[in-house]
Amino acid sequence: MCGITGFIGDTDALSKIVRGLYRLEYRGYDSAGVALLEGDPADLAVYKSAGRVGDLEVPTVSDATCGIGHTRWSTHGKPTDENAHPHTDCTEHFAVVHNGVIANYDELRGDLETHEFTSQTDTEVVPHLLEEEYSETSDLRAAVESVTDRLEGSYALGVIAEESDRIVCARHNSPLVVGHGEDGNYIASDVTAFLDQTRDASYLLDGDVAVVSDDDVTVYADGEPVDRPIQHIEWDAQAAEKDGYQHFMRKEIHEQPWALRQVLASHVDTVDRTVDLDIDLDDDYLRNVDEIQLVACGTSYHASLYAKYLFQTLANVRTSVEVASEYEFEGGRDPTRTLVAGVTQSGETADTLDAVRRSAANGATTLGVTNSLGSTITRVVDDSIFIRAGPEIGVAATKTFSSQIATLVLLCLHVADVRGELDSADGRRLLENLRNLPSAIQQALDNESRIQAVADRYLDEDAFFYIGRRMGNPVSLEGALKLKEISYDHAEGFPAGELKHGPLALITEETPVIALLTDGSRPDDTITNVKEVQARGAPVIGLASEGTGNGTLEERIEVPSLGRLEPLVANVYLQLFAYHLADQKGRPIDKPRNLAKSVTVR
Ligand code: F6R
Repeated sequence: MCGITGFIGDTDALSKIVRGLYRLEYRGYDSAGVALLEGDPADLAVYKSAGRVGDLEVPTVSDATCGIGHTRWSTHGKPTDENAHPHTDCTEHFAVVHNGVIANYDELRGDLETHEFTSQTDTEVVPHLLEEEYSETSDLRAAVESVTDRLEGSYALGVIAEESDRIVCARHNSPLVVGHGEDGNYIASDVTAFLDQTRDASYLLDGDVAVVSDDDVTVYADGEPVDRPIQHIEWDAQAAEKDGYQHFMRKEIHEQPWALRQVLASHVDTVDRTVDLDIDLDDDYLRNVDEIQLVACGTSYHASLYAKYLFQTLANVRTSVEVASEYEFEGGRDPTRTLVAGVTQSGETADTLDAVRRSAANGATTLGVTNSLGSTITRVVDDSIFIRAGPEIGVAATKTFSSQIATLVLLCLHVADVRGELDSADGRRLLENLRNLPSAIQQALDNESRIQAVADRYLDEDAFFYIGRRMGNPVSLEGALKLKEISYDHAEGFPAGELKHGPLALITEETPVIALLTDGSRPDDTITNVKEVQARGAPVIGLASEGTGNGTLEERIEVPSLGRLEPLVANVYLQLFAYHLADQKGRPIDKPRNLAKSVTVR
């Protein structure tokens, strides 16, 4: 996904901007660029090209102290040098970087017929509109405000202009944050871009326009100055680096015990073992809720599916899970008694935000479950729960999957408690399992060489099937998603009972089947499906509870005993299986082709 960075101060802007671009690489991109105000009087210089940040041909030294940079993930127009940002106007007076989609760009281009366009992007209308508006006022902020009034869709914009010693930025439905540094100020789509320079950040809200100079930041809403408080970001730059691991993904898989302890420490009282999620949703409301809808995409959708079983069985509340891009607030339900929770690691996924906004427009109460403090979802929903897994840089979600499930388990326990549904023995058992989850996952991590050896043995196969029931089903879907994303092998997950209704036709001795045979996944039933595929010659890799699947599996990996959370421990083996298989194949694990960490377009 696109990334924005910018700096204005009293030192070299180029190196700070390029550094920011490298730090934004994890978001996934296909082109990069920088615009600088060089010399005195300032001249606008733009350096941009398709490809990696490392391919950018920028000067080795520059006297510029103000500039903006961008990593582009194509939406309008192919990844070419011309389509890379920053974009400029005909006079090359203004440079613009943009995240988001300008929905009415075609119409705006029609209004700009005397202007010569050099790209196929939606963004390029912005500098051309600025050229027109600036000639009226000679005030960059006023020009940006007039232009944004004409834009439809979503944008985070960073703008610089010759003769103007400031960066003007604006946001609407796309994140933008200002960093307050010692030697100048930063703009970025994500704090990671400047976290090694400053941890003091203020988040812009939709409709804000900020004027950033070397020693001042002023934010305007509806033309009036407004206060956007400075937050001190706790993550340090080190936390966002690899810590000696070859890939962020493996580091993040290994961080799971730590991340889960963070989740527990934040929300569970160590003395009386009560859950406090720090939410304002009142107990009366939760008591009377008819239905909880979880809306999410990808891995977050799988985490929600896992949680659904617990909400239904433990809290006895009807729970549905919807892929956010397919979501409609259907009739037949009372919106005032429907809680819609958007589950999103990044808090920026456009499909999830859209689903949550639509449910709110229908009168439902909304909740965000996210890893990103200050992300868009937290501003869209009535209430949020922060999962506190720390920054996740690898494109493939790993530690946030387990932390999301742990957080949803806590929410489930809270809802069950409020509704008087919590059978105390059952609830105590689940909470105890949750408390033991970090050490059970540590045991799986300590057994990494075993799953690595299995991955090595099946390296030459190019299709894998994953099966499981109940909570083993979302884990089989997630295991298959992880493998396909990072190894590019064909992998599919199925409810185990569905195999015989079609997919069984694909099973041969060359299609290994990975079976979830843990507690919480009805292992006794799934064993029958294991036999079905073995009868067609497929080797079976079983992730099994103690005493299950002995003597019947080609590969048997034992999962530490943990009741209904065993499938979640098994998932760690599946993450490592995908990782080692992809690593052996030399895949770019942290940045798989065609994928982005944060999907802010619909
Ligand atoms: C897969 C993955 C994606 C995300 C999905 C939703 O490894 O990371 O499937 O889970 O794009 O992202 P969030 O959770 O940020 O809404």
